Amino acid sequence: MQKVKILSEKLPQHLAIIMDGNGRWAKNKGLPRIEGHRVGMEKIRDVMNWCRQRGIKVLTLYAFSKQNWNRPREEVEFLMRIFEVYLEKEFDNLMEKGVMLRVIGRVEELPLSLRKKIKKIMQKTKANEELFLNLAINYGGQEEIVDAARCISALAREGKILPEDIDVELFRKYLYTPNLPYPDLIIRSGGELRISNFLLWQIAYAELWVSSVLWPDFTEQDLDEALKDFASRERRYGAIKGD
Ligand code: FPP
Repeated sequence: MQKVKILSEKLPQHLAIIMDGNGRWAKNKGLPRIEGHRVGMEKIRDVMNWCRQRGIKVLTLYAFSKQNWNRPREEVEFLMRIFEVYLEKEFDNLMEKGVMLRVIGRVEELPLSLRKKIKKIMQKTKANEELFLNLAINYGGQEEIVDAARCISALAREGKILPEDIDVELFRKYLYTPNLPYPDLIIRSGGELRISNFLLWQIAYAELWVSSVLWPDFTEQDLDEALKDFASRERRYGAIKGD
C-alpha cells in the first residue's frame, strides 16, 4: 500500500485514541475477552512507532476508565496485570525510543504493585522528549475536572487566589497534563459514536475520527486514513473562514 505523505503543519501535534473493540474482536474469534486486551496491548508499540515516524509528538491512549471497574472482576484483574506487564516489558523500548511515559487518572486508587511500577517508569523516562506517551488508567474526564476544581478551591480557601482569578487559563494549569498541547485529533476504534468521558476539557476543539475497525485489527493504513482526513479539515476554533 502506498504511504501517505502529510505536511508536518497538517499533522496533529497531539493524537488521542480510544482503543475500543478488544472484547468484540475476541468474541468474533471465539476467544475470551481478555485475549482481545492482550492483542490490543501489543498494538500499542506499533501505534507509538507509527506516531514517531510521522512526527506526532504527543500520544494519549485511553486504557481504563473510572467506569471500567464495573466489568467482571476477572477482566478487571487481568487488565491491571497487563498494565504491569506492559510497563515491565516496554521499559527498554521506551528508553531506546526516547519516550516519556505518564499515567493520567486517579493513580492512587490502583493496586499498590501497579502504582509502584508507574512511579518508577515515570521517574526513569521523565527526561525523554522524542514522544510524550500518556496512558489514561482509572481515568475520567469529569473526575479530572473535579480534581482540578478541588485544587483550585483549596487555594481559594487558603486565600492564595480569588474567585475572580479563576479563568480558562488558570483552570488548565490544574489538569493532569498542564504542559502539553490539547489533542488535535481523537480517533476512536470500534465504531461507537461517543466520547465516553475521555479528556472532556481538552477536546473542546479536537477533530474526531471514528473507525469501525476493532482495536486489535487497527493498522498503519487506518491511522493514515484518519491523518489524511484530519489534514483536509479546516479548523476555525469558533472564528469564521479567513480570520
Ligand atoms: C475497550 O475495549 C478497551 C479497554 C477497556 C481496555 C484497553 C486496554 C488495552 C488496549 C490493552 C492494554 C493497555 C495498556 C496501556 C497496556 P472493550 O473491551 O470495551 O471492547 P468491546 O467494546 O468490543 O467490548
